[in-house]
Amino acid sequence: MRSVQLNNNVLRDGHQSLAATRMRTEQMLPICEALDNWGFGALETWGGATIDSGLRFLDEFPFDRLDALKKACPKTPHMMLLRGQNIVQYKHFPDDVVTAFIKTSADHGMNIFRIFDALNDTRNMKCAMDAAKAAGAQAHGTICYTSSPVHTVAKFIEMGVELERMGANAIVLKDMAGLIPPMEAFAIIDGLKKTVKIPVWIHTHDTAGLGASTYMAAIDAGVDAIDLSISPFANGTGQPDTTRMLALLQGHPRCPEVSEAQRASLREMRTHLEKAYAELGDFTSHKNEVIDVDTLEYQVPGGMLSNFRTQLKDQKMEDKFEEVFREIPVVREALGWIPLVTPTSQIVGMQAFLNVKFGRWKQISPQAADIALGYYGRCPAPVDPEVQQLAAKQAKKEPITCRPVEAPGAVHQHMDDLRKELKAKNFPSDDAHCVIHAMFPPQLEKHLKGEGPKPTTVAVATETPKAAPAPAPAESNSGLQRKYGLTINGRRVEVGVEEIG
Ligand code: CO
Repeated sequence: MRSVQLNNNVLRDGHQSLAATRMRTEQMLPICEALDNWGFGALETWGGATIDSGLRFLDEFPFDRLDALKKACPKTPHMMLLRGQNIVQYKHFPDDVVTAFIKTSADHGMNIFRIFDALNDTRNMKCAMDAAKAAGAQAHGTICYTSSPVHTVAKFIEMGVELERMGANAIVLKDMAGLIPPMEAFAIIDGLKKTVKIPVWIHTHDTAGLGASTYMAAIDAGVDAIDLSISPFANGTGQPDTTRMLALLQGHPRCPEVSEAQRASLREMRTHLEKAYAELGDFTSHKNEVIDVDTLEYQVPGGMLSNFRTQLKDQKMEDKFEEVFREIPVVREALGWIPLVTPTSQIVGMQAFLNVKFGRWKQISPQAADIALGYYGRCPAPVDPEVQQLAAKQAKKEPITCRPVEAPGAVHQHMDDLRKELKAKNFPSDDAHCVIHAMFPPQLEKHLKGEGPKPTTVAVATETPKAAPAPAPAESNSGLQRKYGLTINGRRVEVGVEEIG
């Protein structure tokens, strides 16, 4: 029996799940050599929210990070998460922009594109999959797991077969909320392994405490690879820690052979990452580190419940939690049982809230209307025709059945338009800048003008009152910066002060 391949996601999902995607490239570099040499099958280093967050909060140009990580980890294949036609945003981009993004990323060293669509509409994945293969990279067709009366094991397998037919190099079962029970994972993986010829991978989270057990079941069912992370950017809302998973697999016929040197290397990486975790103390939270029992009880993603509570509190409707919660399946059913994943989980949550506050379907949010009318893609089941009519009336829009990016009247910026805009502002206008400009125009402009956020001038050391770990070196944006140490509420803070004008 072949041992299971272990991937490592610490540099993307690890800090996205446990530290609000705030890890900086300079905090990653010290473990890169060890990560690259460890023997992981793939390293998830980019994509998902890291591109948005890097620009918005860390003033990092996304392709610079990819270049730096590729240089530091040249041996192991790099992997990224891509939202199909949305690239790494939440709206649809025209095919030429999707293709240019993927080609440019592959040119910068990206090897594996893990491509998904929030609605599991494969039409929204096709262009990206074709582009990845044309660029000489791997296209992994990804199935978003969700539970509903129409999401049967057979339906997931059917989607896997379709993705294989579309040319996927592997199938990934992606359980973003960590809600898949082990035996269901077993059934889906087992079914896929018996039906498709390409490798089958699985990705889950430990949010509800199921992740590691789910991996065990998937491994028994013959899954080819699993995603892991490294503590403290692991477990909880992240992927299971590698050392923990190896302990669970001890004695299992598919356990990879791991040397003492590899174990020591994991220990060393952990030590460095603990320091980084402390530095990111403003963005970590105990809630993310422990098992979320509510998510098990309500069977919706953890983030959705906390959004709910905040929303209801703002509206002084805390007493309506159970009522709003019971409205979720009503909304989901009407909207064709869409999966609950960003951004659909927020849209369903908001609509459930509006239904309770104003009466069912009296007020349909523009986003919920777009789902009902097909502007996000094809829903897993038919949309309630009555709700669709109401949505059309309230949004003053016609329903569509075509691929959303081809919706009549949709206005898109193509590569030529993007290049012209950048040139007019005297900014670099190569493909890398064009595709980032397509998705994050104000953030890119600030970055290029040198007006981006200065996150690294404040490095916080938390929880260690005795000998505080040395704060991360401040990234100096000008040679004239001076550093001062301050203690605020018992916390050691280092600030960089520079003269402006
Ligand atoms: Co994930």
